[in-house]
Amino acid sequence: MEKNRKIKKAYVRTYGCKQNFADSEKITGLLYSMGFTPVHSPEDADLIIFNTCAVRENAEQRVFGNVGALKKLKKDKPELVIILCGCMTQQEHTAEHFKAKFPFLDAILGTNIIATLPEILQNVGNGLIRSAQKGANIHITEAGGALDEDIKPLREGNFSANVPIMNGCDNFCTYCVVPLVRGREVSRTPENIISEVKDLIAENRRDILLLGQNVNSFGKGTDTDFLGLLREIDSLDGEFLLCYMTSHPKDCKKELLDFIAESRNISRHLHLPVQAGSNRILGLMNRGYTREQYIELANYAKAKIPDISITTDILVGFPGEIYEDFKQTLDLVEQIGFDSAYTFIYSRREGTKAADFADPVPAEEKSAWFQELLDVQGRISERSYERFIGKTLRVLCLGEGRSDPALLTGKSRQGIIVDFAVGANSVRPLGQFVDVKIKKALPWALIGEQTDE
Ligand code: 5AD
Ligand code: SF4
Repeated sequence: MEKNRKIKKAYVRTYGCKQNFADSEKITGLLYSMGFTPVHSPEDADLIIFNTCAVRENAEQRVFGNVGALKKLKKDKPELVIILCGCMTQQEHTAEHFKAKFPFLDAILGTNIIATLPEILQNVGNGLIRSAQKGANIHITEAGGALDEDIKPLREGNFSANVPIMNGCDNFCTYCVVPLVRGREVSRTPENIISEVKDLIAENRRDILLLGQNVNSFGKGTDTDFLGLLREIDSLDGEFLLCYMTSHPKDCKKELLDFIAESRNISRHLHLPVQAGSNRILGLMNRGYTREQYIELANYAKAKIPDISITTDILVGFPGEIYEDFKQTLDLVEQIGFDSAYTFIYSRREGTKAADFADPVPAEEKSAWFQELLDVQGRISERSYERFIGKTLRVLCLGEGRSDPALLTGKSRQGIIVDFAVGANSVRPLGQFVDVKIKKALPWALIGEQTDE
């Protein structure tokens, strides 16, 4: 342990999704409890941890580039400890590649390592890991498994909190590596989640995001389901904003939307990845719903919750997709009118089913389709928020404005960023809910003024 004491400053860099960010908040929390100070630059650190993402090749390339850049740091400061973890390292072929290409790494760990970090660090401190092999030590843990209930995360921001409610995924969409690297779905107990949410409300962290790959299938192995969990949380004392993601169209039930419509604290934002608009492609993707079912669900949500904001994920160029399929995606995008869409070009992932599908469409053609989608969605997003102009929205104030430093910024019940002015003599309502009258709409935010009306 003696040597360990010298390692005092830790830099944790996170790639990928909110789930990974939530994992990193736990890693930082654990390091903090061990006496480390978090720092914001790798140059200042004694310990560097990269928490990686494997969902697409470009994310992986970024990690490879950034890890390569650490070589010089390690050369100048040989006692620096560098550890990789997360989804990328969970795949054996990638871990081997890291080991061969970057022998200066101290350890390459899997996704489920947070609880084992103290032991790993102790070994690093004693030189065990470095002397065990010449290069990096691969230590892949089993994907999925228990969720670390005892580790308190060190959260970013003052008023927001990520709360993972489950880990892993059982859906096996044919393009997706997540079930392979994060393992089978495991839900936390509702008691643990509710107790954490209660504590967050008491700490005035009232922008709460429940996280899971498919929140709608929450509850396997527990005595409740996602609707039951939301009902219990919604009835807790106080005003707060409870967001959740990601919803899966095949499991998102109408009763859930009925409940959200009448709830007090549940967000009116639905992130509902459609991925594609052609039934043939949805079938090949193993998504478990049709275009018609998706449209019906989205229309039901809009009818029940008229002020709802629906966003989505779309994948372009899935193996075997032809332009006629893609046109159906464009058509669906026009029909639904998403507030925004996260769009991706298909990236082949080793070990997935789709990796074996014939993929004859050239990359340039996929890029052209992708651009066409960006143009269509861009046009929709440009005007989409105009429907809120003149309306008064309930907004949780989170800090200084981004569009204009004279304004404050917050988040509406629809999950939309709202920048707003307060009266010259008013107290700044940081961490509090206020009513904001909307004056202007940008593609990515609303602008307004606090009101007492
Ligand atoms: N290629 C491109 N995008 C992907 N996604 C998941 N797997 C892949 C892949 N192999 C996208 C999906 C998912 C989002 C998180 O990432 O759209 O909803
Ligand atoms: Fe991947 Fe599909 Fe699971 Fe989402 S639901 S993580 S896209 S397999």
